[in-house]
Amino acid sequence: MNRLEVEFLGIRFPNPVVTASGTFNYGLEYAHLYPLSALGAITTKGTSLEPIAGAPTPRITETPMGMLNAIGLENKGVEAYLQHELPWLKEQGARVIVNVFGDRAGDFAEVARRVSPYANLIEVNLSCPNVHGGRLPFAHDPQAAAEVVRRVKDATERPVLAKLSPNGPILPVAEALEAAGVDGFSLINTLLGMRMDLDKKRPILGNASGGLSGPAIKPVAVRLVYELYRHTDRPILGMGGVASAADALELALAGASLVAVGTATFSNPYAPYKVIKGLDEYLSEREETWRDWIGAAHTPN
Ligand SMILES: Cc1cc2nc3c(=O)[nH]c(=O)nc-3n(C[C@H](O)[C@H](O)[C@H](O)COP(=O)(O)O)c2cc1C
Repeated sequence: MNRLEVEFLGIRFPNPVVTASGTFNYGLEYAHLYPLSALGAITTKGTSLEPIAGAPTPRITETPMGMLNAIGLENKGVEAYLQHELPWLKEQGARVIVNVFGDRAGDFAEVARRVSPYANLIEVNLSCPNVHGGRLPFAHDPQAAAEVVRRVKDATERPVLAKLSPNGPILPVAEALEAAGVDGFSLINTLLGMRMDLDKKRPILGNASGGLSGPAIKPVAVRLVYELYRHTDRPILGMGGVASAADALELALAGASLVAVGTATFSNPYAPYKVIKGLDEYLSEREETWRDWIGAAHTPN
């Protein structure tokens, strides 16, 4: 194994750096910059059974050290992606994590079933509202979240990652998901936030509130990965504010085996590639491997 290689749920990744869902679309816009197969994996935009038009504009606004977004899960629906983007991604030789969501557990499962031939892993976005169960996000309701994972596990042979929300308690949810057979976790999704327009005296975002991402949330991500690692033996895909090799290594120390780069890609489309190069240089100098760093902050001195 080379310095950056890592095995995650039986899949060998050439390096641990993947794209974060919703920040890289399906990769088409980036394929002329670098080969997508050079990344650890591409996580697709959140994909639902039916097309979703998304939230009213404005959908994005900057914040100190980050951004707020309220895209409203806009996507073309699974059938459209099966026609073009998913086969195309496979042709690129990329490893693919398909991010799925739905209004109810059965919808998540149906999307997972259909995308499975093209997916190395399925990532279940539990931050969307449980439309038929009180509108709380699935991620805030251990039983509803567990039902999603059970249904998705029944629908696919692929390993299933549950994407956790930082806006509620994570450990009781993680415990329920483990009982439901989840294979691994990804975290964190965005933190809820809001900004105001002083002229209009109204929220800036069309949806009023949105999700905070970028460097501002990195310490939250490091803490939650650290907490979860202490309570689970399932592997973790960590994310939140990663823009450099040093950021990725912080998450590895906390317990992440893979890391995702999200918001950083908006200001620099080479960001994921830059993190891979930075890790290679840093670890080569020290004659260490990425694997040496995973969870290393938990080992006694
Ligand atoms: C514009 C935008 C769209 C996103 N869409 C999704 C999505 O569809 N599904 C999902 O699970 N996470 C989504 N996320 C959350 C990211 O995948 C990631 O968890 C979060 O942004 C933290 O990482 P970052 O700080 O590197 O961006 C989105 C984030 C942004 C900024």
